[in-house]
Amino acid sequence: MAPRKHLTLERILHSQGFGTRRECRALVRHKQVCVENTMNDDPDHLFDPTGLSFSVAGTPWIYQERAYLMLNKPTGYECSQKPRHHLSVYTLLPEPLVLRGVQSVGRLDEDTTGLLLFSDDGQFIHRMASPKWKVNKVYRVGVRHPLDAAQLAALRQGVVLHDEPEPVVAVACAQLDDLHLELTLAEGKYHQVKRMLAAVGNRVETLTRIAMGGLALPADLAPGAWRWLDAEALVSVQRVSQTPE
Ligand code: URA
Repeated sequence: MAPRKHLTLERILHSQGFGTRRECRALVRHKQVCVENTMNDDPDHLFDPTGLSFSVAGTPWIYQERAYLMLNKPTGYECSQKPRHHLSVYTLLPEPLVLRGVQSVGRLDEDTTGLLLFSDDGQFIHRMASPKWKVNKVYRVGVRHPLDAAQLAALRQGVVLHDEPEPVVAVACAQLDDLHLELTLAEGKYHQVKRMLAAVGNRVETLTRIAMGGLALPADLAPGAWRWLDAEALVSVQRVSQTPE
């Protein structure tokens, strides 16, 4: 087995988003950093970073080479670093995650709630968002007018959206009651759910993303709360419904 790479404490903190190299060095020197519960004031001390637990000014952290996380997005937040009318979803994440450059995997509208992923792994973001990979997204949709069989059939067979050359189809569409349905889509086109419901003569009133790939939004993740994706969740979320073309 290849020996594991050791990194200085300064580099470890920098890689996790705790500031510039210089700022991280100062944090250590000022006795703000504990590693495995022991204060360490040597920024050049070498550690194997894998799974390393440390704290910075009392904030506990676990080293993650790449960041993969999920947020239960509340309504009233924009998926932009520079929001125009509301707060940014990035204000719901701890500063080190924002500083290390995590990006949302696609976007949800300001009034859409539910499962939103973030990462600083460009390949992962690209793959999850790529139409080629067809990672299913499941939405619970509340509508203004009672649903009828013709609307559900049209969603399954494909509806034509303005500015889209091909009709878009729902991978699955299950009615929950008169005013609610669960819609599964393989793509993530702009306002896709709202445009599809409008195309069949209805209107979206509430919209929540409840799953991506094989990962469901955990019932115990409160609106506004975030959590790391563990190894199992990371595999589940990338599960594709069809082989990439
Ligand atoms: N479709 C929409 O219309 N809005 C979203 O936020 C996500 C999917």
